[in-house]
Amino acid sequence: MRVDVVTLFPEMVETLLQFGVTGRAVSRGLLAVMTWNPRNSTNGRYRAVDDRPYGGGPGMVMKVQPLRDTLKMVRCSVEPSGRTIYLSPQGKLLDQDGVRDLAKEARLVLLAGRYEGIDERLIEAEVDEEWSIGDYVLSGGELAALVLIDTLARLLPGALNDSKSSEQDSFMDSLLDFPHYTRPVDVDGRRVPDVLLGGNHAAIACWRQREALGRTWLRRPELLATRSLNAAEQILLDDFIREYQAREADSGD
Ligand code: ADE
Repeated sequence: MRVDVVTLFPEMVETLLQFGVTGRAVSRGLLAVMTWNPRNSTNGRYRAVDDRPYGGGPGMVMKVQPLRDTLKMVRCSVEPSGRTIYLSPQGKLLDQDGVRDLAKEARLVLLAGRYEGIDERLIEAEVDEEWSIGDYVLSGGELAALVLIDTLARLLPGALNDSKSSEQDSFMDSLLDFPHYTRPVDVDGRRVPDVLLGGNHAAIACWRQREALGRTWLRRPELLATRSLNAAEQILLDDFIREYQAREADSGD
């Protein structure tokens, strides 16, 4: 996958991509990330990429011309360059379904804004989609672009050492992840659940599915409301709820 990132802070993007799964995806040739600085497409003495907002108010707005010229260069260098995505709090909320959909693309162009945002006419004319990584405001789109690239890299075949890893990620099945344990078996009296020590793979799979369903029910019930459960999953969740309620009743005595 090739991702072109338009950003005033290319080093920020390049540095963070060197580590972990994204770093490995790049070194294995599965992911190529190019950065483009709109400051290099500015004219004039001050090389301004921003200007004051029409109508007044605080902050500055990114100008059309440097961004438009930068996007033109991106599209000349990669043909076709793929969907152009603007990261902003006004965008569609990114979730694992959205990531899975974007991961089908061979190429993407990510536009990271700064200041109060980007002149709306650039968005109308040049942007295909607007995505947000959450209902909060970052100081710029770079971290959002990095979050998106990281989530995409996990899904590239060969990026994870164990290809099953990403299938087991939280949300891949619209559920939260089950709990994980490693050695030692006992930490200050807290033991690893016996089922994980027994080597019965079917029982382990059942336990994990039950925990994933139960945690989702406890922590993110709205995820279950949009996902239908099959008969086996319903039995596992009912069992989790029964046990949970019995524990709660015990601790209330
Ligand atoms: N830029 C600033 N805040 C953002 C957010 N929440 N998501 C994506 N891009 C952003």
